[in-house]
Amino acid sequence: MAEEINNKIDEIIDFARHKKVFLSKDALEVLLVRVDWKDIVEELASEGCFIVAKKDIEKKVTKTKIFLAEELGGAEVPSQKHIVEQSPKNFKIINAKNNLNKGQGNGGTNDFLELFRFKFNSLKSILEQRNSIRAKPIKNIGYVKEKEELEIIGMVYRKWETKTGNTAIELEDLESRCIVVLSKNEHGVELERHRIMLDDVICVRGIKIAKDMILAKEVIWPDIPQREIKLTKKDVCVASISDLHVGSKLFLEGAFQKFISWINGDAGSDEEKKFVKKIKYLFVTGDNIDGIGVYPKQHSELNIKSIKEQYNLFSDYMLQIPDNIEIFIIPGQHDAVRWADPQQPIPEKFVPKLYAAENIHLLGSPSWVEIEDLKVFLYHGSCLHDLIASISGLSYEHPQQGVVELLKRRCVMLTYGLSHPYAPEINENVFMKESPDLVFMGDLHHTGYLTYRGTTIVNNSTWQDRTEYQIKLGHMPTPGVAIAMNLKDRKIYARMMVS
Ligand SMILES: [Fe+2]
Repeated sequence: MAEEINNKIDEIIDFARHKKVFLSKDALEVLLVRVDWKDIVEELASEGCFIVAKKDIEKKVTKTKIFLAEELGGAEVPSQKHIVEQSPKNFKIINAKNNLNKGQGNGGTNDFLELFRFKFNSLKSILEQRNSIRAKPIKNIGYVKEKEELEIIGMVYRKWETKTGNTAIELEDLESRCIVVLSKNEHGVELERHRIMLDDVICVRGIKIAKDMILAKEVIWPDIPQREIKLTKKDVCVASISDLHVGSKLFLEGAFQKFISWINGDAGSDEEKKFVKKIKYLFVTGDNIDGIGVYPKQHSELNIKSIKEQYNLFSDYMLQIPDNIEIFIIPGQHDAVRWADPQQPIPEKFVPKLYAAENIHLLGSPSWVEIEDLKVFLYHGSCLHDLIASISGLSYEHPQQGVVELLKRRCVMLTYGLSHPYAPEINENVFMKESPDLVFMGDLHHTGYLTYRGTTIVNNSTWQDRTEYQIKLGHMPTPGVAIAMNLKDRKIYARMMVS
C-alpha cells in the first residue's frame, strides 16, 4: 500500500510539473484521494494557476461538484523534501514580540533617559563595527594633545551657528560632552553641516583645537554598508500599496476596485495577468482607514462615520485579494492605534476577519519581515515630515531621498519634540541593526523609488484624492498607483489605476 501511495504521489507531481503547476503539500494531500486529480490539475493549469494550495482545489471541487473517491481512503502523505521546496510560503516575521509592546514604564523622565541611552548604545555599536573607527570616550579628550587627530562618537545635544558663519554642535556620550566645530570652509563637512539634527548619533573625526573642542574633518554616519543587490533565483514578485483612507469622501473607490481586479488577474493583457500571478507578497503600509477625529472638522469629510464600518470595508477589500498572497499590514496615523511611534498592530476587535485569515499578518510600524531570504523593513513613514522640514533639499515629491536619510541614521527616532512623537519604549524594530534589502513606506502620498547601497526603497502612493490640506501646502500627490517589484531583478513596475 505504501508503495502504491508513493507511486501515485510521484505520478501527480510529475504530471503537475509537466503542466507547470506547483503543488503545496496540503494540495497534494487532497489530490491524492481523488480519482479526477488529472482533470483538476489540468483545469488549474489552463487557468494559469502557477502555485496551487489546498484552498484552490477545494474551490474547484465545490464549483464542479466532484465527489471524493474512496480508493485510497484519506492516506497520509509521507514527508518529502521536494514538496517542501515547492511550498509557496517562504517568509517569517522578525522580532514579532516587539509588535506586542504595550508600553513599558509610565512615560516619565527615567523611561526617556533609558530610551536615549538605548538609542546611543545601539547606534554606537553599529559605528564601532567598522574597522576604520577607533573612537575615544569624550572624557578622554583631555589626554589628547592639541592639533592631534582623534575620533569621538556622540549624540547631538545642541547645534548653532557661530558668529563667523560656521556651525557648532555639542556632542555627548554617556559620561561627558564636547564642542565640535564644522567649518564652512572644510570641504568634507560642508554638506553635513545642514544634515545634522539634534539627537543624531554620529562619529566625528577631527583635530583637537582647544580644551574639549574639536575641528571636524569628517562626519561618519551609522549608515548601511555598500552591498551587492541580493536577487532571488525564483521569479517572484511583491506588490505594495498604502494610505487607502477607507471612509474618506476622497477615497478612490473605483481605482481601488481596479486594483482588486488587477491583483486577481482579471484585468489587463495576458502578459499582465501572467505577471500578476507571480505576486506572492503584498505590503500595506498604513493609513488603511481615514479614522475619526484625526484632525479638526474631519467629520464633514467622511463618507463612513464609524471606525468599525471603515475597518469592515477595508477588511472586505483585503479579503478579495487572492489568498495565495501573503499580506502584511501595518498601521499609520489614521488607524485606530496610538499616534506615537512605534505603533502597535491594528487591534483584533476592529479587524477580526483579517486576524482569522491565514495569509494576512497584522504588524506594528515599524516592523521587520523576511521573505525569500530578503530582509524587509516596513514603516508607515511618519517621521519623514520632520526630516523634510529639517533638511534642505528634501521634498514631498522625492520621498525616497528622505528614506536615504533614515538609512544613514539607521533609526526612525529623530529629534525628540518635533511634530512627530515617539513613545519611551525599548523596541528594536525602530533601529536598522541589519541592513534591509527592501524598504516599504507610505504616508507622503507620493511614489518614489531608489536603490541605495543595495537596499531598494519604495515609497507607496495613496488611494485618496488630493485633500484641501494638500492643496493649501501645494503638495501634489500621486494617487492610485500599485507598485510591483520582481525580486529576481528588482525591476519596479508602477501600475496606474486612475484614469
Ligand atoms: Fe495617509
